Amino acid sequence: FRTLDNADVRGKRVLLRADLNVPMHDGVITDTTRLDRVAPTIRELAKDGGKVILLSHFARPKGKVVPEMSLAPVAKKLSEILGMPVAFASDCVGPKAKEAVDALKDGQVLVLENTRFHAGEEKNDPAFAKELAANGDIYVDDAFSASHRAHASTEGIAHLLPAFAGRLMEQELKALEKALEHPERPVGAIIGGSKISTKIALLNNMVAKVNVLVIGGAMANTFLGAQGVNVGKSLQEKDMYPTALEILKTAKAKGCDIILPVDAVVAKEFAPNVATETVAIDAVPSDAMILDVGPKTVELIIAKMKTLRTLVWNGPLGAFEVPPFDKATVDVARAAAQLTKEGKLITVAGGGDTVSALKHAGVANDFTYLSTAGGAFLEWLEGKVLPGVKVLETTGAELGLG
Ligand code: 3PG
Repeated sequence: FRTLDNADVRGKRVLLRADLNVPMHDGVITDTTRLDRVAPTIRELAKDGGKVILLSHFARPKGKVVPEMSLAPVAKKLSEILGMPVAFASDCVGPKAKEAVDALKDGQVLVLENTRFHAGEEKNDPAFAKELAANGDIYVDDAFSASHRAHASTEGIAHLLPAFAGRLMEQELKALEKALEHPERPVGAIIGGSKISTKIALLNNMVAKVNVLVIGGAMANTFLGAQGVNVGKSLQEKDMYPTALEILKTAKAKGCDIILPVDAVVAKEFAPNVATETVAIDAVPSDAMILDVGPKTVELIIAKMKTLRTLVWNGPLGAFEVPPFDKATVDVARAAAQLTKEGKLITVAGGGDTVSALKHAGVANDFTYLSTAGGAFLEWLEGKVLPGVKVLETTGAELGLG
């Protein structure tokens, strides 16, 4: 695909698809990571004399105008981060958008209102994509985290304008490629989370690609239960036992070393500061539930990690939101960060919970690469083709641009 190295933006209207879908609580943005990470692309386009017009969805208004889901506060925050004025238009198509775009001078920045206020966005309606495209001369996609959606602003529009990958998109694709498609081996993955049922495709793809797979979170309970271990009152999916056994069988056939907990931190209920006990995995009391992996498991994971060159991480090892069940995740995260700093391990992590867990452990900046993507990161781990990425690979040829 073509990057900004191949684009001449001076004097052009650049439609920049960003993912401005930041977490917001009571109208206050609680995490600006996505804005911080797209800022370099905006600065570069502005510096090169482009008229920068940002397109993004925000939350899930389902094709209707929902005032609480306006991008106006995000535009304001973006202006603070960029240290330059950012204009805002109260619609992403039609006369209001056009007027704001026409008023732009080279090097200025404008945010258009939430694309999902129009039903045509999620339907990838060609007529709506055409309306969006009418405000631009070129299209730059910097929204890897929305690339699993085949929507008008992430897919449809790329068929209508010369399309380029922005700097963040470029970074994400390079980092992910290096982690799983062409990794330095041995490569391992830590996959946590509560349910196997939502991660079957992901686990199957991991087993085929990595040398070592650590399974944590409540998902591990199902694997243990399937093998006849009594996991007491722990969260598990009994109907997934056959699937779990199948995954273990495939792993064996493919030479993927699966690491499951050998001990656990258990409690009678899931609440902050309850009485806990650390037990061997075959000694979980019937009236207790597993809420974190134990210290022996942490040791085992760290020892394995030391044999690896690359580590991909998605999902916490325990119920990390509630201390003390954050301990294993924090300890392993810190060890991974240390190995990264020593130049021994390439670490790539993604998914909303995972990034929060790494921040909680104070090591978010020490990993080799943190993806800004949640759902898109998961689909990429599944080995799926992401429509917003695929279109960037093909569109130039379609438009006869090579
Ligand atoms: C995300 O936050 O993962 C992306 O912005 C996509 O949002 P969506 O799940 O509402 O499509």
